[in-house]
Amino acid sequence: MKKILACCAALALMGMVSFGVATASDKGPADMTLESTIDKAKKAKPSIFPHAKHQENLKCSDCHHVKDDAGKQVAYVDGQKIEKCESCHNKGETMPKKLATYKGAAHAQCKTCHAKKSKDHAKCGVCHPKKG
Ligand code: HEC
Ligand code: HEC
Ligand code: HEC
Ligand code: HEC
Repeated sequence: MKKILACCAALALMGMVSFGVATASDKGPADMTLESTIDKAKKAKPSIFPHAKHQENLKCSDCHHVKDDAGKQVAYVDGQKIEKCESCHNKGETMPKKLATYKGAAHAQCKTCHAKKSKDHAKCGVCHPKKG
Protein backbone atom coordinates (compact mmCIF):
# COMPACT_ATOMS: atom_id res chain seq x y z
CA MET A 1 0.00 0.00 0.00
CA LYS A 2 2.77 2.42 1.03
CA LYS A 3 4.67 1.60 -2.15
CA ILE A 4 1.62 2.38 -4.27
CA LEU A 5 1.11 5.70 -2.48
CA ALA A 6 4.75 6.69 -2.92
CA CYS A 7 4.56 5.76 -6.56
CA CYS A 8 1.43 7.89 -7.05
CA ALA A 9 3.03 10.80 -5.26
CA ALA A 10 6.07 10.55 -7.50
CA LEU A 11 3.91 10.46 -10.62
CA ALA A 12 1.86 13.42 -9.43
CA LEU A 13 5.06 15.35 -8.75
CA MET A 14 6.42 14.52 -12.20
CA GLY A 15 3.19 15.70 -13.76
CA MET A 16 3.29 18.95 -11.82
CA VAL A 17 6.89 19.59 -12.77
CA SER A 18 6.40 19.05 -16.49
CA PHE A 19 3.19 21.06 -16.42
CA GLY A 20 5.03 23.90 -14.69
CA VAL A 21 7.76 23.95 -17.31
CA ALA A 22 5.31 24.01 -20.22
CA THR A 23 3.36 26.92 -18.72
CA ALA A 24 6.48 28.87 -17.92
CA SER A 25 7.78 28.64 -21.49
CA ASP A 26 4.42 29.77 -22.94
CA LYS A 27 4.38 32.83 -20.71
CA GLY A 28 7.89 33.93 -21.60
CA PRO A 29 10.61 34.81 -19.08
CA ALA A 30 9.53 35.91 -15.58
CA ASP A 31 12.05 38.74 -15.50
CA MET A 32 13.65 40.48 -18.44
CA THR A 33 16.16 43.15 -19.27
CA LEU A 34 14.93 44.95 -22.35
CA GLU A 35 17.45 46.46 -24.71
CA SER A 36 17.43 47.39 -28.38
CA THR A 37 19.38 45.16 -30.73
CA ILE A 38 18.85 47.55 -33.67
CA ASP A 39 19.28 51.12 -32.39
CA LYS A 40 22.52 50.74 -30.51
CA ALA A 41 22.59 53.95 -28.54
CA LYS A 42 25.92 55.49 -27.61
CA LYS A 43 24.81 55.14 -24.04
CA ALA A 44 22.65 52.04 -23.78
CA LYS A 45 19.82 52.39 -21.33
CA PRO A 46 18.49 48.91 -20.62
CA SER A 47 15.14 48.62 -18.89
CA ILE A 48 14.27 46.10 -16.24
CA PHE A 49 10.92 44.40 -16.74
CA PRO A 50 9.24 42.06 -14.23
CA HIS A 51 7.13 40.24 -16.86
CA ALA A 52 5.52 37.68 -14.50
CA LYS A 53 4.48 40.42 -12.08
CA HIS A 54 2.66 42.23 -14.90
CA GLN A 55 0.95 39.00 -15.96
CA GLU A 56 -0.74 38.76 -12.54
CA ASN A 57 -3.11 41.66 -13.16
CA LEU A 58 -3.01 42.28 -16.90
CA LYS A 59 -4.13 40.34 -19.95
CA CYS A 60 -1.53 39.27 -22.50
CA SER A 61 -3.43 41.35 -25.05
CA ASP A 62 -2.92 44.49 -22.97
CA CYS A 63 0.65 44.51 -24.30
CA HIS A 64 0.99 41.93 -27.07
CA HIS A 65 -0.52 42.30 -30.52
CA VAL A 66 0.18 41.14 -34.04
CA LYS A 67 -0.36 42.63 -37.50
CA ASP A 68 -2.26 41.56 -40.58
CA ASP A 69 -0.98 41.36 -44.17
CA ALA A 70 -1.83 45.03 -44.70
CA GLY A 71 0.38 45.92 -41.72
CA LYS A 72 -2.57 46.87 -39.50
CA GLN A 73 -2.42 46.17 -35.77
CA VAL A 74 -4.48 43.14 -34.77
CA ALA A 75 -5.42 42.15 -31.22
CA TYR A 76 -3.55 39.23 -29.66
CA VAL A 77 -5.46 35.99 -29.29
CA ASP A 78 -4.37 33.36 -26.72
CA GLY A 79 -1.77 30.95 -28.01
CA GLN A 80 -0.62 33.17 -30.86
CA LYS A 81 3.10 33.38 -31.63
CA ILE A 82 4.63 36.34 -29.82
CA GLU A 83 7.36 38.29 -31.58
CA LYS A 84 9.82 40.83 -30.26
CA CYS A 85 8.48 44.40 -30.28
CA GLU A 86 11.41 45.44 -32.44
CA SER A 87 10.55 42.99 -35.22
CA CYS A 88 7.73 45.42 -36.10
CA HIS A 89 8.66 48.61 -34.29
CA ASN A 90 11.68 49.62 -36.33
CA LYS A 91 12.44 52.29 -38.90
CA GLY A 92 12.06 49.84 -41.80
CA GLU A 93 8.32 49.44 -41.18
CA THR A 94 5.51 51.74 -42.24
CA MET A 95 4.71 53.06 -38.83
CA PRO A 96 4.11 56.44 -37.20
CA LYS A 97 7.56 57.89 -36.45
CA LYS A 98 6.85 57.95 -32.73
CA LEU A 99 6.36 54.17 -32.78
CA ALA A 100 9.14 53.24 -35.21
CA THR A 101 11.73 52.41 -32.54
CA TYR A 102 11.81 50.11 -29.54
CA LYS A 103 12.13 53.16 -27.31
CA GLY A 104 9.11 54.82 -28.90
CA ALA A 105 6.88 51.75 -28.74
CA ALA A 106 7.99 50.86 -25.22
CA HIS A 107 7.57 54.35 -23.87
CA ALA A 108 4.14 54.63 -25.48
CA GLN A 109 3.07 51.42 -23.80
CA CYS A 110 5.02 51.19 -20.54
CA LYS A 111 5.23 54.85 -19.56
CA THR A 112 1.65 55.65 -20.51
CA CYS A 113 0.27 53.00 -18.20
CA HIS A 114 2.69 53.78 -15.40
CA ALA A 115 1.77 57.47 -15.58
CA LYS A 116 -1.87 56.56 -15.04
CA LYS A 117 -0.97 55.13 -11.64
CA SER A 118 1.16 58.05 -10.51
CA LYS A 119 3.82 60.53 -11.57
CA ASP A 120 6.42 58.74 -9.47
CA HIS A 121 5.62 55.43 -11.14
CA ALA A 122 6.61 56.92 -14.52
CA LYS A 123 9.99 58.24 -13.42
CA CYS A 124 12.99 57.11 -15.49
CA GLY A 125 14.60 55.24 -12.59
CA VAL A 126 11.61 52.90 -12.16
CA CYS A 127 12.57 51.15 -15.41
CA HIS A 128 16.14 52.36 -15.95
CA PRO A 129 17.78 51.87 -12.56
CA LYS A 130 21.18 53.47 -12.13
CA LYS A 131 24.01 50.95 -12.29
CA GLY A 132 26.28 50.37 -9.40
C1 HEC B 1 7.76 52.30 -17.51
C2 HEC B 1 9.11 52.04 -17.96
C3 HEC B 1 9.96 53.15 -18.49
C4 HEC B 1 10.08 54.44 -18.01
C5 HEC B 1 9.37 55.07 -16.84
C6 HEC B 1 11.06 55.10 -18.85
N1 HEC B 1 11.52 54.22 -19.80
FE1 HEC B 1 12.95 54.61 -21.20
N2 HEC B 1 12.67 52.77 -22.02
C7 HEC B 1 11.85 51.79 -21.51
C8 HEC B 1 11.94 50.61 -22.35
C9 HEC B 1 11.20 49.31 -22.12
C10 HEC B 1 12.83 50.92 -23.39
C11 HEC B 1 13.23 50.03 -24.60
C12 HEC B 1 14.32 49.05 -24.18
C13 HEC B 1 15.62 49.76 -23.93
O1 HEC B 1 16.31 50.13 -24.89
O2 HEC B 1 15.89 50.03 -22.75
C14 HEC B 1 13.30 52.29 -23.15
C15 HEC B 1 14.25 52.98 -23.93
C16 HEC B 1 14.81 54.16 -23.59
C17 HEC B 1 15.93 54.76 -24.28
C18 HEC B 1 16.70 54.14 -25.45
C19 HEC B 1 17.81 53.33 -24.82
C20 HEC B 1 18.78 52.67 -25.75
O3 HEC B 1 19.65 51.94 -25.24
O4 HEC B 1 18.66 52.85 -26.96
C21 HEC B 1 16.22 55.94 -23.64
C22 HEC B 1 17.34 56.92 -23.97
C23 HEC B 1 15.25 56.08 -22.57
N3 HEC B 1 14.42 54.98 -22.56
C24 HEC B 1 15.21 57.14 -21.69
C25 HEC B 1 14.26 57.31 -20.70
C26 HEC B 1 14.16 58.53 -19.87
C27 HEC B 1 15.10 59.71 -19.94
C28 HEC B 1 13.09 58.32 -19.04
C29 HEC B 1 12.49 59.30 -18.04
C30 HEC B 1 12.12 60.61 -18.56
C31 HEC B 1 12.54 57.00 -19.34
N4 HEC B 1 13.28 56.43 -20.35
C32 HEC B 1 11.49 56.41 -18.69
C33 HEC B 1 11.07 51.89 -20.38
C34 HEC B 1 10.88 53.02 -19.62
C1 HEC C 1 2.90 44.68 -19.41
C2 HEC C 1 3.09 44.14 -20.73
C3 HEC C 1 3.06 42.64 -20.96
C4 HEC C 1 2.11 41.75 -20.55
C5 HEC C 1 0.84 41.98 -19.75
C6 HEC C 1 2.54 40.47 -21.06
N1 HEC C 1 3.72 40.59 -21.73
FE1 HEC C 1 4.77 39.12 -22.66
N2 HEC C 1 6.28 40.43 -23.06
C7 HEC C 1 6.21 41.79 -22.87
C8 HEC C 1 7.44 42.41 -23.35
C9 HEC C 1 7.78 43.87 -23.34
C10 HEC C 1 8.24 41.35 -23.83
C11 HEC C 1 9.63 41.46 -24.45
C12 HEC C 1 9.44 41.65 -25.92
C13 HEC C 1 10.74 41.89 -26.63
O1 HEC C 1 11.78 41.33 -26.21
O2 HEC C 1 10.74 42.62 -27.62
C14 HEC C 1 7.47 40.12 -23.65
C15 HEC C 1 7.91 38.85 -24.03
C16 HEC C 1 7.11 37.72 -24.05
C17 HEC C 1 7.50 36.44 -24.59
C18 HEC C 1 8.86 36.12 -25.20
C19 HEC C 1 8.86 36.51 -26.64
C20 HEC C 1 10.26 36.33 -27.23
O3 HEC C 1 10.35 35.89 -28.37
O4 HEC C 1 11.24 36.67 -26.57
C21 HEC C 1 6.44 35.58 -24.44
C22 HEC C 1 6.37 34.12 -24.86
C23 HEC C 1 5.38 36.35 -23.79
N3 HEC C 1 5.83 37.64 -23.58
C24 HEC C 1 4.15 35.84 -23.45
C25 HEC C 1 3.19 36.53 -22.71
C26 HEC C 1 1.93 35.94 -22.30
C27 HEC C 1 1.45 34.54 -22.64
C28 HEC C 1 1.28 36.90 -21.56
C29 HEC C 1 -0.04 36.78 -20.83
C30 HEC C 1 -0.12 35.69 -19.88
C31 HEC C 1 2.14 38.08 -21.53
N4 HEC C 1 3.27 37.81 -22.24
C32 HEC C 1 1.83 39.28 -20.89
C33 HEC C 1 5.18 42.48 -22.29
C34 HEC C 1 4.06 41.93 -21.71
C1 HEC D 1 3.76 41.80 -35.41
C2 HEC D 1 4.08 43.23 -35.37
C3 HEC D 1 4.08 43.91 -34.04
C4 HEC D 1 4.67 43.51 -32.86
C5 HEC D 1 5.45 42.24 -32.61
C6 HEC D 1 4.42 44.55 -31.90
N1 HEC D 1 3.71 45.56 -32.47
FE1 HEC D 1 3.07 47.28 -31.57
N2 HEC D 1 2.07 47.80 -33.24
C7 HEC D 1 2.13 47.14 -34.46
C8 HEC D 1 1.35 47.88 -35.46
C9 HEC D 1 1.17 47.49 -36.91
C10 HEC D 1 0.81 49.00 -34.77
C11 HEC D 1 -0.07 50.10 -35.37
C12 HEC D 1 0.83 51.24 -35.80
C13 HEC D 1 0.03 52.34 -36.46
O1 HEC D 1 -0.61 53.11 -35.74
O2 HEC D 1 0.04 52.41 -37.69
C14 HEC D 1 1.27 48.92 -33.39
C15 HEC D 1 0.96 49.84 -32.42
C16 HEC D 1 1.54 49.89 -31.17
C17 HEC D 1 1.29 50.94 -30.19
C18 HEC D 1 0.31 52.11 -30.33
C19 HEC D 1 -1.10 51.61 -30.28
C20 HEC D 1 -1.42 50.96 -28.97
O3 HEC D 1 -1.87 49.81 -28.98
O4 HEC D 1 -1.21 51.56 -27.92
C21 HEC D 1 2.10 50.66 -29.12
C22 HEC D 1 2.21 51.46 -27.84
C23 HEC D 1 2.84 49.43 -29.41
N3 HEC D 1 2.46 48.99 -30.68
C24 HEC D 1 3.77 48.84 -28.59
C25 HEC D 1 4.30 47.55 -28.79
C26 HEC D 1 5.13 46.83 -27.83
C27 HEC D 1 5.59 47.38 -26.51
C28 HEC D 1 5.41 45.62 -28.38
C29 HEC D 1 6.15 44.46 -27.77
C30 HEC D 1 5.62 43.98 -26.49
C31 HEC D 1 4.77 45.57 -29.69
N4 HEC D 1 4.12 46.76 -29.89
C32 HEC D 1 4.85 44.50 -30.58
C33 HEC D 1 2.81 45.99 -34.71
C34 HEC D 1 3.48 45.22 -33.78
C1 HEC E 1 -1.19 48.43 -18.36
C2 HEC E 1 -0.29 48.92 -17.33
C3 HEC E 1 1.19 48.63 -17.38
C4 HEC E 1 2.00 48.47 -18.47
C5 HEC E 1 1.62 48.48 -19.94
C6 HEC E 1 3.34 48.29 -17.95
N1 HEC E 1 3.34 48.35 -16.59
FE1 HEC E 1 4.98 48.15 -15.39
N2 HEC E 1 3.79 48.12 -13.76
C7 HEC E 1 2.42 48.38 -13.76
C8 HEC E 1 1.92 48.32 -12.40
C9 HEC E 1 0.47 48.53 -11.96
C10 HEC E 1 3.04 48.02 -11.58
C11 HEC E 1 3.08 47.85 -10.07
C12 HEC E 1 2.92 46.38 -9.77
C13 HEC E 1 3.00 46.09 -8.29
O1 HEC E 1 3.76 46.79 -7.60
O2 HEC E 1 2.35 45.15 -7.88
C14 HEC E 1 4.19 47.92 -12.47
C15 HEC E 1 5.49 47.66 -12.03
C16 HEC E 1 6.63 47.74 -12.82
C17 HEC E 1 7.99 47.67 -12.37
C18 HEC E 1 8.43 47.45 -10.92
C19 HEC E 1 8.44 48.78 -10.23
C20 HEC E 1 8.71 48.66 -8.77
O3 HEC E 1 8.63 49.70 -8.10
O4 HEC E 1 8.99 47.55 -8.28
C21 HEC E 1 8.81 47.86 -13.45
C22 HEC E 1 10.33 47.89 -13.46
C23 HEC E 1 7.95 48.00 -14.60
N3 HEC E 1 6.64 47.94 -14.19
C24 HEC E 1 8.40 48.19 -15.90
C25 HEC E 1 7.56 48.17 -17.02
C26 HEC E 1 8.04 48.12 -18.39
C27 HEC E 1 9.47 48.15 -18.81
C28 HEC E 1 6.92 48.06 -19.17
C29 HEC E 1 6.81 47.96 -20.68
C30 HEC E 1 7.58 46.88 -21.32
C31 HEC E 1 5.76 48.10 -18.30
N4 HEC E 1 6.19 48.16 -17.01
C32 HEC E 1 4.46 48.11 -18.75
C33 HEC E 1 1.64 48.64 -14.86
C34 HEC E 1 2.05 48.55 -16.19
